[in-house]
Amino acid sequence: MAKSIQVEQGDITTYQVDAIVNAANTTLMGGGGVDGAIHRAAGPALYAACEQFHGCPTGEARITPGFKLPAKYIIHTPGPIWRGGQNGEPELLVASYCNSLKLAEHYHCRTVAFPSISTGVYAFPVERAAQIAIKTIREFLANSHWVQQVIMVAFDPATKAAYQKALLT
Ligand code: APR
Repeated sequence: MAKSIQVEQGDITTYQVDAIVNAANTTLMGGGGVDGAIHRAAGPALYAACEQFHGCPTGEARITPGFKLPAKYIIHTPGPIWRGGQNGEPELLVASYCNSLKLAEHYHCRTVAFPSISTGVYAFPVERAAQIAIKTIREFLANSHWVQQVIMVAFDPATKAAYQKALLT
């Protein structure tokens, strides 16, 4: 099966893939946005599973079962909060994508769905984030054995357009 990156618009909690990625915060105790949607859909068992990690540093990733979600696993990664771009935010966003994909590979996931990490509450400019995401995913897929397909799941048309544009560069 050829490797691929796709951009779609939808609700990531509905994706029946091996792993969906959650744009979490460093407490891993849930929140709003996609984090809130994933916790609501996965159910209370997710909260209990996340407690065991005692948090997660920005740019790192942790994996749990998907519980009530159609996805087998959830990979939680706190992306960087945008503070102007001179505080290592780009490097930390690369790390969030990289570490999430490394965990997916380790757990023999073939299909992985990502939300647009850090571009909501964390205010990372979406055009820049999309370029970083697509570049990082492309480089990972060039060497991956298990991960074959990555889907960027945008929640709105503007975000979808930003990732489609990044895919064309
Ligand atoms: N499916 C896919 N994408 C979604 C969904 C969903 N169900 N809900 C929201 N999104 C999109 C947002 O529209 C945005 O484009 O996910 C992207 C990331 O936005 P946030 O969820 O705000 O995440 P982020 O910017 O990384 O901020 C993380 O927000 O929810 C809290 O606990 C979270 O503190 C953390 C912070």
